[in-house]
Amino acid sequence: MIEKIIVLGGKGGVGKSSISAATAVILSDLLPEKKFLLISFDMAHNLSDLLSKDIGNIITPITSNLWAIEPDANEYAEIYTKDLVQKMKTLMKQMPLVGMIPQIEGFIDTTFTSDSIPLALKNAMFFQKILDAEDINSQEVQYDIIIADFPPTANMITLFEIPEDQIKVVLKYSLNFYNSIKGAMRNFSKMFRQILKPFNDDYEKRKELGKEIFNMIVDLEKRGERITELIHTVGSLRLVSIAEKPSYEEVKRARDLTEKYINLEAIHINMLTPDPKHCNFCEKMRQIQLKFSAEIKKEFKNLKIWESNKLLEEPIGLDGLRKLALEIYKDCSVEEILNP
Ligand SMILES: Nc1ncnc2c1ncn2[C@@H]1O[C@H](COP(=O)(O)OP(=O)(O)OP(=O)(O)O)[C@@H](O)[C@H]1O
Ligand SMILES: [Mg+2]
Repeated sequence: MIEKIIVLGGKGGVGKSSISAATAVILSDLLPEKKFLLISFDMAHNLSDLLSKDIGNIITPITSNLWAIEPDANEYAEIYTKDLVQKMKTLMKQMPLVGMIPQIEGFIDTTFTSDSIPLALKNAMFFQKILDAEDINSQEVQYDIIIADFPPTANMITLFEIPEDQIKVVLKYSLNFYNSIKGAMRNFSKMFRQILKPFNDDYEKRKELGKEIFNMIVDLEKRGERITELIHTVGSLRLVSIAEKPSYEEVKRARDLTEKYINLEAIHINMLTPDPKHCNFCEKMRQIQLKFSAEIKKEFKNLKIWESNKLLEEPIGLDGLRKLALEIYKDCSVEEILNP
């Protein structure tokens, strides 16, 4: 069962991906009995670079208990819409007269496209695959802890906005379409009962298919709700900032914007200039950073704060990430990293 979903957020370039990967590596080292999955939800995936390994759209083993994936959310949406379009077409073809309208197929093709599915829902479709692994009969690996690397704040919000509004738009749209055609046909058949008689035999078949389509759409809605619920209960947001004004302002905005979706549990202040010796510029730089750092700590005084210096070498590969993790978490216990 998924115990925890750790989400890293913040402004562009502050170290979200590096900290996500470093956190995944250190936690999986410290908890060898748990299974970890690191997911990139940033369209501009860079986990492959960070882990020095080709990852892409398949769950790729990194260590004995850590896996990573850079999912292609469109793929899942396309599979879904293909299925929906197929069912819609079959249904329309079986309908008296509607099936004879030559434009109907084209209309269905252009109405139900994967583009019309909101990104949040596409991600929900992908995430569902991970959750499906929890089904009793599944042969897939079941993950205990998920670590999600998100894009900068604005795009991150669209990833959370799965609930009500967006799904209901898709849902209502599809159902309205189906019902209006069904309604029109019902009136029509009343007028021409005799002529349409041969079509009535197909009625039961149509009813079944209509039900299937309805269930498909309702199921989509349920997925979105299930994931939203899961993020509410086991989600842990950690916002990353560098000790500069724009990044700090963004962290405050991100806190307010995500409040209703996920629990904010910690703040990372990353890339601090190490204590400089014999360097005037570095010394001034550090003084400015310490001022912002103090301001961030005051603003978030109820939260766990982790500070990390800028390392001389880019934290890349398992060893680089372990070094970054050590720089961030120092002598924190695994329990503290997991539940700050
Ligand atoms: N503490 C650190 N010391 C040295 N380099 C770091 C540190 N943290 C991050 N970096 C480097 O800073 C750069 C940006 O980091 P990263 O890609 O993790 O940021 P991000 O917030 O995920 O960016 P984006 O918004 O583009 O996704 C990378 O080159 C990374 O290696
Ligand atoms: Mg990133």
